[in-house]
Amino acid sequence: MLSAIAVIFALISVSNGIKEGYLPSYINPCDLAKPSTEFVDCVKEQIEATLPHFTKGIEELGVPSLDPVALDDIHIDGNGLKLTFTHAAMHGLSDSKLSQLKLDIGKDVETFSLSFKGNMSVSAKYVVDGRILILPIQGKGDAKVNCHNIEVQIDSKLTHVKDAKGIHFKLVTPSYKYNIQSTKFEFQNLFNGNKQLSDATHQFANENWKQLMDDLSPPVIKQIVKTCVKAINKFFSNVTIPQIVKGYNN
Ligand SMILES: *[C@@H]1O[C@H](CO)[C@@H](O)[C@H](O)[C@H]1NC(C)=O
Ligand SMILES: *[C@@H]1O[C@H](CO)[C@@H](O)[C@H](O)[C@H]1NC(C)=O
Repeated sequence: MLSAIAVIFALISVSNGIKEGYLPSYINPCDLAKPSTEFVDCVKEQIEATLPHFTKGIEELGVPSLDPVALDDIHIDGNGLKLTFTHAAMHGLSDSKLSQLKLDIGKDVETFSLSFKGNMSVSAKYVVDGRILILPIQGKGDAKVNCHNIEVQIDSKLTHVKDAKGIHFKLVTPSYKYNIQSTKFEFQNLFNGNKQLSDATHQFANENWKQLMDDLSPPVIKQIVKTCVKAINKFFSNVTIPQIVKGYNN
């Protein structure tokens, strides 16, 4: 009798153990035993299929939504321009596409490099005073910065960490670069709503978008990369390597 109870308890704990290893149904582990190009192609397909879900968050794994990404306040003060963005948020990551993947798994130094591309926008409350190049700009209100075809590449080392649940991947020392094809600004209520001045300044700002984005993009992109890496590491911390890579021998 006692041993029957013990068996039942053992079975219950085994089935609980299986439930703990939750993995969303749209993620299918790739087989590391396959030739490396086939493995990388498989991971690429997996990430392509997972990206729209991942960027909306995976509640079961504690992964937060990345669309929108709330941004810290941005202050620019230089070259005669004072610009502040508050309540800023980046939209569009969930519609972005994987544009490149490089992966080295099973080597001494494992690396993970991923690029994504999309049309993204930043919405914020702005206060601006000063000039863009030669043209005065002044106002406060709602702003929207529309980035057309922005591509971000994240290069990272992949390390392993162990905990009670098993062994996990972790991205460390990520670096990044980015490219933006073009940008359009929409500042509501420039010059207290003076349409003529506002139109002229918008036209000039949009023609010289690179100048303004030289100051604006670095703090935005830095925060986006940080948030993405944090979300990926959250995911990794809650799934073991054998769960997401078939045939992985540590
Ligand atoms: C793992 O996922 C659970 C939900 O299944 C969540 O409550 C927990 O915060 C996550 N753990 C970590 C370390 O993120
Ligand atoms: C961005 O939008 C344009 C249309 O406005 C579209 O042609 C292009 O494919 C989009 N880019 C991405 C990466 O989705």
